[in-house]
Amino acid sequence: MEACGLSEQPSRSRVFVAGVLDRVPARAVPKLRRIRVTRFGLVLRIKILPGQDFLDYDAATERLRHAWRTHDVYVRALKPGFLEVRLVGYDVLRYVVMPRKLPAAELLKVPVALRSDGALHLRDFRASPHELVIGATESGKSVYLRGLIKGLATQPVALVGIDCKWGVELAPFARRLSALAYTPEDAAELLDVLVEEMVQRYELIRASQGLGAGVAVEEITSDVWGLPEDVRPAPIVLIVDEVAELFLIANKADEKRRDHMVTQLIRLAQLGRAAAIYLEVCGQRFGSDLGSGATALRAQLTGRVAHRVNDEASAKMALGDISVRAVGAATQIAVERPGTAVVGLLSGGWARIRSAFVSLDEVAAVCADTAHRTPYIPALADFRMQPAVLPTQPSKQTV
Ligand SMILES: Nc1ncnc2c1ncn2[C@@H]1O[C@H](COP(=O)(O)OP(=O)(O)OP(=O)(O)O)[C@@H](O)[C@H]1O
Ligand SMILES: [Mg+2]
Repeated sequence: MEACGLSEQPSRSRVFVAGVLDRVPARAVPKLRRIRVTRFGLVLRIKILPGQDFLDYDAATERLRHAWRTHDVYVRALKPGFLEVRLVGYDVLRYVVMPRKLPAAELLKVPVALRSDGALHLRDFRASPHELVIGATESGKSVYLRGLIKGLATQPVALVGIDCKWGVELAPFARRLSALAYTPEDAAELLDVLVEEMVQRYELIRASQGLGAGVAVEEITSDVWGLPEDVRPAPIVLIVDEVAELFLIANKADEKRRDHMVTQLIRLAQLGRAAAIYLEVCGQRFGSDLGSGATALRAQLTGRVAHRVNDEASAKMALGDISVRAVGAATQIAVERPGTAVVGLLSGGWARIRSAFVSLDEVAAVCADTAHRTPYIPALADFRMQPAVLPTQPSKQTV
């Protein structure tokens, strides 16, 4: 620590004792309070010295990394006066191996990736209801979505897909999807139905608020999670792959439909959370050049994941509001590392992650096995793929 500039002047008592013993007083160094061994290296708990702060250590991570000869060093502030320093011994994201023991499954919380410090990255829909996933072609967006679908398929959650690549990414999972649209026309109808479903849910919440004489104060709720379990509607996760396709228009007539569709998406993003409707929006770029409404929609998507991008402007679309360093990190992702991304963290800051690779047939098999768990939502029944159109066998992986 001393070599890395993290020591301080010795205390007066030390100077006095050293003077009495005719020695040079040693500089004060931060104290190691706890040490924990993990699969990836060590986690240290350090009591910092008076006058120091988190930023001193954050700035020294590169020096510490070389001094301790570790692959990476990460610092996190704990309670005042204490820091957690993670020493990672090797490149965790080279081959992503998810921990064998995952945390107990929680509704709408799915482990999807590993962070570069070895921690598990969870997609928590209740903490961050809507998310934007961007990345250049072949950067790993669809695999990230597959991981999410695999995790959600086993939960009592309705999955709704809009896949403007003619359904090639999401159709193999149709058995578990409550609805699937793969043309902009179908998507427009589906979004209308979802907004109507959201309105119905709000009506339900309002009706349950009742606020009659007999209603106890703790029973009043402003979202579906406060409703009794027997009337609570199933949460809906709307997955949109290649969102830019929804914005494209060929002629003037399309423009009206596009504007209406974008407005419906914005309404879902603004009001969906309380009705347990969540969005996962995926695209190669997501800027104002897509057309009116794009920036308004982007502003509503709190969660940000940026895979490898071709230019800084694309990274800025996702991470510009989070950190300049995060933007730089997203532009430096190597082509031979698909699935690597930079994410904005709920706790503030950002991290590098890499999703666990899951093949198309693996997820298709999970969806076929869990098809019976698809919640029945009457409004979406018309958008469910009919058995005659479904593949009989989970399709073989084509990527
Ligand atoms: N986490 C990962 N680990 C290893 N390989 C991955 C990972 N994620 C994606 N890949 C590989 O990268 C390639 C592209 O992945 P994917 O189809 O998800 O990209 P994409 O961003 O959706 O591309 P497009 O925009 O063309 O749809 C695939 O061949 C896949 O096998
Ligand atoms: Mg894709």
